[in-house]
Amino acid sequence: MVLMSPKEKMTAALKAADEETAREGGRLLAAGKLVAFPTETVYGLGADATNDKAVASIFEAKGRPQFNPLIAHVPELSWVGGFAEMTDTALRLAKRFWPGPMTLVMNRTKACPVSYLVSAGLDSVAVRMPSHPFARALIAEAGVPVAAPSANISGTVSPTTAEHVRQGLENRVSLIIDGGPCRVGVESTVLDVRGDRPVLLRAGGLTVEEIEDETGKGSVLFPESDPALPRSPGQLSSHYAPSLPVRLNALFAEEGEALLGFGKAEGAVLNLSPSGDTAEAAANLFAYMRELDRPEFRRIAVMPIPTDGLGLAINDRLKRAAYPRRVTKQS
Ligand code: TXA
Ligand code: MG
Repeated sequence: MVLMSPKEKMTAALKAADEETAREGGRLLAAGKLVAFPTETVYGLGADATNDKAVASIFEAKGRPQFNPLIAHVPELSWVGGFAEMTDTALRLAKRFWPGPMTLVMNRTKACPVSYLVSAGLDSVAVRMPSHPFARALIAEAGVPVAAPSANISGTVSPTTAEHVRQGLENRVSLIIDGGPCRVGVESTVLDVRGDRPVLLRAGGLTVEEIEDETGKGSVLFPESDPALPRSPGQLSSHYAPSLPVRLNALFAEEGEALLGFGKAEGAVLNLSPSGDTAEAAANLFAYMRELDRPEFRRIAVMPIPTDGLGLAINDRLKRAAYPRRVTKQS
């Protein structure tokens, strides 16, 4: 069931909430198939996390490097003890922020049934409980933790609608479930919680301010500030990239550029948030980058965005989108 024409969209969004669709998706996942599904952050490309072959097909479909580990998604906290060791920090954050846009990196338990491909051979495993009700229903139906990266070709802009998923992966998945646009719009915040203090591996939909409200002001550690801290194997310099080059901190458009605005923005082709709200900007970010990625433009120029709140995640994605890369439109 690939539901796509604009007219069908409303029905599709309703269908996503439908138990019947969750059952069908769960059955496919349990049978080792790939299912693309909505979460509150971005669309995920799901497979049974305990099935090596199914997990391998995620890497194949996305063209994802195998050294980059995946997140195992669960519908409820009681599932986690079976495969990850929860420290006090982990438990505290999980109780406060799950379900939600937060991923916790923990040690694998001895009998951890999650495929080592999910962990990319590491002793750790990343776990997330999404807040999207359909996502949780789907995983509960599957009856196994679901490994799910963003449902796009590796390195490209992440999908926040089912249509984006279709554009990248249409013939490579068994089912694309349309749940409408994603509410948060940037991926989950990834935290290594094996020590006393959380280490920020990836800025995302849960802000540092929110985390520190639970763990104490100044408690979040940043790997860039200390070489001894763990870092994420997946933080590639070039990522989230449209085919056009991207220029950051632009105050106006140069010749041939499409200006992506924020706040008061004269001459912007699209504006992430006219009122200067970073949550609204995050929700629009990937969809607008895709929209401006058109041959009539030479480059996408993005106005400055503050780094507080969700601005940290937005700036992280933009920095990677702007990173010089070898694969361009021409090559
Ligand atoms: O919001 C999200 O997190 C979305 C939705 C679908 O849940 N998923 C997502 O997955 O963004 P992905 O694969 O695009 O990003 C997972 C991130 C990568 O940066 C990866 O390196 C990191 O999590 N990660 C996964 N397992 C890890 C581990 N064991 N240690 C360190 N980093 C890990
Ligand atoms: Mg991704």
